[in-house]
Amino acid sequence: MLSLAVSVVALALIFTNESFQPIQAAIGFAILGYQMTTSLIPAVTTAFLKRGLGGRDLSKPGKPLIPETMGIIPAITYMFVMILFIPFMFIFGSDQNGLSGMFPHKMLSTYLGCLLSLMSMILLGLMDDLFDIRWRHKFFLPAVASIPLLIVYYVDFGVTAILIPHFLQQWLHLETNSVDLGYFYYFYMASVAIFCPNSVNILAGINGLEVGQTVVIAGLLLLNDLFYLSIGTIQSPSYSIHLLSMCFLIPFVGIALGLLKYNWFPARVFVGDTWCYFGGMVFAVVGISGHFAKTLMLFFLPQIVNFVYSAPQLFGLIPCPRHRLPKFNEEDGLLYNSYTEYGQIDATSEKGRQNPPLNSRLVPVVLFLEKLKLIGVVKEYQDGEWVIHKTTNLTIINLFIVWTGPIREDKLCTLLLATQFATGFFMLVLRHTLAPMLFGFDNSWSMLNRYN
Ligand code: UD1
Ligand code: MG
Repeated sequence: MLSLAVSVVALALIFTNESFQPIQAAIGFAILGYQMTTSLIPAVTTAFLKRGLGGRDLSKPGKPLIPETMGIIPAITYMFVMILFIPFMFIFGSDQNGLSGMFPHKMLSTYLGCLLSLMSMILLGLMDDLFDIRWRHKFFLPAVASIPLLIVYYVDFGVTAILIPHFLQQWLHLETNSVDLGYFYYFYMASVAIFCPNSVNILAGINGLEVGQTVVIAGLLLLNDLFYLSIGTIQSPSYSIHLLSMCFLIPFVGIALGLLKYNWFPARVFVGDTWCYFGGMVFAVVGISGHFAKTLMLFFLPQIVNFVYSAPQLFGLIPCPRHRLPKFNEEDGLLYNSYTEYGQIDATSEKGRQNPPLNSRLVPVVLFLEKLKLIGVVKEYQDGEWVIHKTTNLTIINLFIVWTGPIREDKLCTLLLATQFATGFFMLVLRHTLAPMLFGFDNSWSMLNRYN
């Protein structure tokens, strides 16, 4: 009954919208997306398990089997909702000739380019969940998925210049205030498309974290968009691209919250790589099509730190077990650090591989990091030198446990999400206070908007 009433409200927001308000419609679609996601997920769980789409929750007593790849439901719902959104945006949101207004018809190519990129990512994620694609194969595929988007960018904007801060201009005695990166800027955008999905996927392993981080990042991006809308008018250059960004993000938050309801501790479903790739790609798509691929990275600070911190394991400097998630202790129900063990059989490896001992040149580095409380170490003093038996896996999830000690799964997740929000919010404030001072003016203002 309640959900029927909520759906009616959603439809009312979409249809009783005479002087078309895109944000109102987007909220309507978000509610609709939330409703569809939350009613579809419980309806398909048995079917998913029957097809073998399940995973063991490693941090619960008895490691129960729950459905996995559930991210496909909100992802498809999202595509569906965004397709339904098209007539509203591009009939009511532009003038009669489709040449101007909030969403002139030219913008439709951007919109469709975004959807095509997202669709490709959903397919890649699904293939990965079904067939476990090798890391080295799947890593670069998001760049291919971003090609439609990069072409739209090339045709519509083609802006590849970046601003140089005032002090650098003076210091280097430069005549201009910008430098044109040309094709390198496309290379940068393709890298963003690779980074966003993969970085969400490796900040994972505790209930609620994969979806939670995408909700927080979407929230921060919406704050950034709202900032531009509040200081601009419909004529100002960046207005309609930030409006478009909101039209992508608001329905995304709706479906993501629907998934979070089932993935939050104690999780009833796992989201799968489908979600990580899809969610990450939504941000790449919004950042690239909205011209803020650089600002976007400010909201990925925990993911960037996690990636850099993980690098020794990702690039094979030290062994990387199949799972790096924290270790669950059935006795007290708390999460403890998980370790990479040197010179031992890797228990999580399918091939029962033996890890090599830690490279002796890395021993002082590890001991130094331990002093700084940046890694947990189990060591022994033998014959006048330290022998390192194991070190904590290099994820910020484990790093948090080094700092907090054993902790409950939901508490740890909340702590990580709060950190994501706090750092993102701090960067957002810096972006709009320090950056205009450094660069002289805010580049989004000066940008030519070719749509109008
Ligand atoms: C990435 C991480 C891996 C981490 C895994 C957890 C890297 C390089 N890879 O691998 O270290 O262990 O994600 O998702 O950093 N699971 C839980 N509880 C959760 C979420 C997942 O127990 O809240 C377990 C389940 O058994 C689930 C599995 O993780 O089936 C999913 O792992 P998958 O997403 O396939 O791992 P990767 O993305 O390859
Ligand atoms: Mg994963």
